[in-house]
Amino acid sequence: MDRQVTKSKGLRGTVTVPGDKSISHRALMIAALANGESRIAGLLDAADPTSTKTCLSTLGIQFEWKGEFLSVHGRGLKGLQAPQTILDAGNSGTTIRLLSGILAGQPFASTISGDESLCGRPMKRIIDPLSEMGARIEGTPKGTAPLRILGTYPLRPIEYQMPISSAQVKSAILLAGLFADGTTRVVEKTVTRDHTERMLGLTTTRSALGHSVEVEGGREIQPGEFQVPGDISSAAFLVSAALIVPHSEIRIRNVGLNPTRTRILDFYRSLGASISILDEKIVAGEPIGDLLVLSTELQGNVWLDGNAVAELIDEIPIISVTLALSGVGLTIQGAADLRAKESDRIASIVANLRNLGLDVEEYADGFAFQAKKSLLHARCDSFGDHRIAMAFGVAGLALSGETTIQNAECVDISFPAFWNLLETLQLH
Ligand code: S3P
Repeated sequence: MDRQVTKSKGLRGTVTVPGDKSISHRALMIAALANGESRIAGLLDAADPTSTKTCLSTLGIQFEWKGEFLSVHGRGLKGLQAPQTILDAGNSGTTIRLLSGILAGQPFASTISGDESLCGRPMKRIIDPLSEMGARIEGTPKGTAPLRILGTYPLRPIEYQMPISSAQVKSAILLAGLFADGTTRVVEKTVTRDHTERMLGLTTTRSALGHSVEVEGGREIQPGEFQVPGDISSAAFLVSAALIVPHSEIRIRNVGLNPTRTRILDFYRSLGASISILDEKIVAGEPIGDLLVLSTELQGNVWLDGNAVAELIDEIPIISVTLALSGVGLTIQGAADLRAKESDRIASIVANLRNLGLDVEEYADGFAFQAKKSLLHARCDSFGDHRIAMAFGVAGLALSGETTIQNAECVDISFPAFWNLLETLQLH
């Protein structure tokens, strides 16, 4: 489906964004491993968490909607059943990587796979540590899915120094650690999102080697009430839209403000953005609040690498669009992992920005452009990647004429109501 977006006169209103994708996956998996019934409120109703839910059903977990809560009948650490079919993770990297951590500790074999995009993404990053823990995992010769996982119980506890920044890999090891005979420790240089740690009640400590978190194998997980906040990575598209479209003022309610996710707000504020946080509170172990955003002419010339890239990993597409449309130059380096996301995001961003008339230099691990005013509307390809579709959809709000986003339905992965929500915010 093509989606046309035209220049906006301003965005106004109070909205909510769908539930946090990372927290939704984790709530489903951890509730499945708990001893008894948990309830999840605010679960993201989109294709990615549905993949997790479907895989867990195949492993014997029952779900039931009770009003706005999803009730999950957890079967305890030892209660999953051997799957009778291939587990389908769809487009979801979080599903395949985190679930592999759980499957590694099962006394049965399973196969997990996904769509074409997912089967092109690197899995060696989880195969290596999970194999070290004693599971046998076979992927394709390129180290991609389908993954055949011969689980073992108990697994061997390991101490793992993360060679890359990845919350998915960290979480896969921590979840596998629940099935290990002892203490598993993961150490990372940059703290990546810590939702798994919060849900399992684990604490991160700082040492000379980095940020270290430990999990004890065999400990029972108590069922509970999960409250999923609005996804700040989804809110980022609306925040950016409000910043770049003049005469905008929007309030986004109940957004997750976990400090491992809020770098985007500090980043925009460092360029002068008017973003305030209202009604901040802690709900179910995660900070949440409302974001009030006013249109702002952003100023600066930005260089992003290292820690900043890791902390802004899902926001790079929308940051690129926002800065390009604001006439702010940008250089991104040390971001090779962007090539291994739902699309090759370096190639997708560069191709679409060039379509808009920007001179962009592409590197193996990033890209750069100089500040330029007056970009042109164009046809932009989503490359089947939800964050690319939404980022260039936002661009269309600030460009004169009609911008077309090809294959725009891929927003269903994380934000099915995105296009409608943009419409409801329009000033007419
Ligand atoms: C996620 C971690 C990040 C992020 C992805 C969700 C998670 O991936 O890009 O959208 O929920 O743990 P990496 O671990 O590959 O950086």
